[in-house]
Amino acid sequence: MHITQSFVVILLMRWKVSEVAGNCSFNETQSHCTCSGLHQKNIGGLIACFPASVIELQGGNLEQFVHFASTIEVKESAINILQVLQVTKIIFRDFVVPEVLLAAAMKFVSYLRVTELEFESCTFLGNASWFHLDSKFLPVSSLRFHNVTSPSLADRGKDFSSLSGWLGTLQNLTVTQSHVTYIPCSIGKVFRDLRYLDVSENQLQDQSIRSSFCQGTFPQLQVLILHHNNLSSFHTMCEMLHPLKKLTHLDLSQNYLTALPSSSCEWQPSLLILNLSTTGLDHVTLPLPRNVEVLDLSSNNLHSLDLALPFLKKLHLSNNRLQAVPTAKNYPALEVLSLDGNLIQHLPRAELQSLRHLQNLRAGRNHYNCSCAAASEIQVLAGVKSLMPDWPQDYACESPSPYQGTLVKDVPVSVLQCSKAIVIIPISVLLVLSCLTGIICFARHRARSAEPVAKL
Ligand SMILES: *[C@@H]1O[C@H](CO)[C@@H](O)[C@H](O)[C@H]1NC(C)=O
Ligand SMILES: *[C@@H]1O[C@H](CO)[C@@H](O)[C@H](O)[C@H]1NC(C)=O
Ligand SMILES: *[C@@H]1O[C@H](CO)[C@@H](O)[C@H](O)[C@H]1NC(C)=O
Ligand SMILES: *[C@@H]1O[C@H](CO)[C@@H](O)[C@H](O)[C@H]1NC(C)=O
Ligand SMILES: *[C@@H]1O[C@H](CO)[C@@H](O)[C@H](O)[C@H]1NC(C)=O
Ligand SMILES: *[C@@H]1O[C@H](CO)[C@@H](O)[C@H](O)[C@H]1NC(C)=O
Ligand SMILES: *[C@@H]1O[C@H](CO)[C@@H](O)[C@H](O)[C@H]1NC(C)=O
Ligand SMILES: *[C@@H]1O[C@H](CO)[C@@H](O)[C@H](O)[C@H]1NC(C)=O
Repeated sequence: MHITQSFVVILLMRWKVSEVAGNCSFNETQSHCTCSGLHQKNIGGLIACFPASVIELQGGNLEQFVHFASTIEVKESAINILQVLQVTKIIFRDFVVPEVLLAAAMKFVSYLRVTELEFESCTFLGNASWFHLDSKFLPVSSLRFHNVTSPSLADRGKDFSSLSGWLGTLQNLTVTQSHVTYIPCSIGKVFRDLRYLDVSENQLQDQSIRSSFCQGTFPQLQVLILHHNNLSSFHTMCEMLHPLKKLTHLDLSQNYLTALPSSSCEWQPSLLILNLSTTGLDHVTLPLPRNVEVLDLSSNNLHSLDLALPFLKKLHLSNNRLQAVPTAKNYPALEVLSLDGNLIQHLPRAELQSLRHLQNLRAGRNHYNCSCAAASEIQVLAGVKSLMPDWPQDYACESPSPYQGTLVKDVPVSVLQCSKAIVIIPISVLLVLSCLTGIICFARHRARSAEPVAKL
């Protein structure tokens, strides 16, 4: 069937193609079409995907199509069809893709409304000239690669420069789990408008950051995710990333970082979100971005935190070794505080309530001292509506021994119970007093009886 005819048939079916056609299946509710086992004979099955907004192509070696690459041309009649397609996202999964073919296929993309392209578990072969795309407008603003392999990009700066018209407008780039060791400086400069770069789970090292973020690369970058690489110096990161003047969000989590105690580097004032979760830090005397609003220091080895961060709104300290709640007056703007999984014994109620903006306090899985006064303080705090989302199930007593393992909420703290201690003291004092009085009286009595005439 000619492609136009198929299209008309689909139109006649009022876009109600939800049946499996060939190896493509269209999920109408999700507007998602999945095709597998693509080969020359069943590519017609793709027509089932015409109404979809997401098309996912699974599994295949596209080398068999490589000879088409040089002959692919977009005919006038096809353009009309391409322009009415609704597809906004195309996903390639488990493919072997000759780059030549990719370059040729991009000709079609320029007529589509595709804003997102994704390649997952793909192997790119060889290299291609991208010159023919020099003047083409590509609507794709978000490009994602996950678990892909490709020939080295090291000497490809020239090839990519002919894509610079397009890449210069790209907003989002994700290249994860793909053994990236560095981003050639010349390629980074092509991404003039990139806002979001995720290169997590690769093999970037401190030195590769130096060359990847050379002067002039990624001038508009706002979000940089470097999660789970092989970075080691917090100080080097601060220095190397300094040229990124618009950076607002930096994720360095899951890198084993060492911090120099007296580093002079200053972060860009634009930086508002910093993720240092699971970085092996045992103390923080680092220069932190002075305007930081979200700081994730969870899953480290921190014993204390003694920094004043006046604009901080969210502080994540879960799974450390803190023995006390950090001083509240250092974080006057705090809205969210996570302290779960530490060694904290007391929650200082008055101090925490002095944080006027605090809305969310997570403090379960600690070593609470359930002395009457301490347990009562926690219970009162937990009474504040929706303040503690992990209350009561995660709050157990560690001491005193009769209460070990008991939930803090079950510790009896009624006025009578709590004041037992208070009641006992006055009684004993009274006893002692009355006894003393008795002795004095007795002594006086004795004295009187011994010297009946003596006057007091
Ligand atoms: C379509 O996707 C929805 C949501 O994931 C799912 O519940 C439904 O079963 C799918 N329909 C078909 C026909 O696969
Ligand atoms: C695709 O469909 C053809 C014909 O229906 C079938 O022989 C083939 O096994 C299918 N391939 C996959 C991967 O499902
Ligand atoms: C990564 O991609 C390869 C093919 O290139 C595939 O064999 C492997 O299963 C993928 N790994 C994961 C975790 O998806
Ligand atoms: C890339 O292209 C050049 C010139 O066409 C060729 O000499 C080289 O072998 C190609 N490299 C790969 C990895 O295919
Ligand atoms: C880029 O990614 C961010 C975060 O995932 C997302 O919110 C945004 O919509 C994306 N922008 C584009 C143009 O795809
Ligand atoms: C991480 O970097 C160190 C040098 O800084 C190197 O010896 C090590 O092999 C790297 N690890 C990986 C998994 O790349
Ligand atoms: C920080 O990164 C970890 C992953 O390493 C993630 O689970 C966590 O949600 C991130 N924190 C914030 C505040 O985004
Ligand atoms: C628990 O708190 C009480 C009163 O504040 C104190 O006397 C006691 O020593 C504390 N117990 C532990 C194990 O710290």
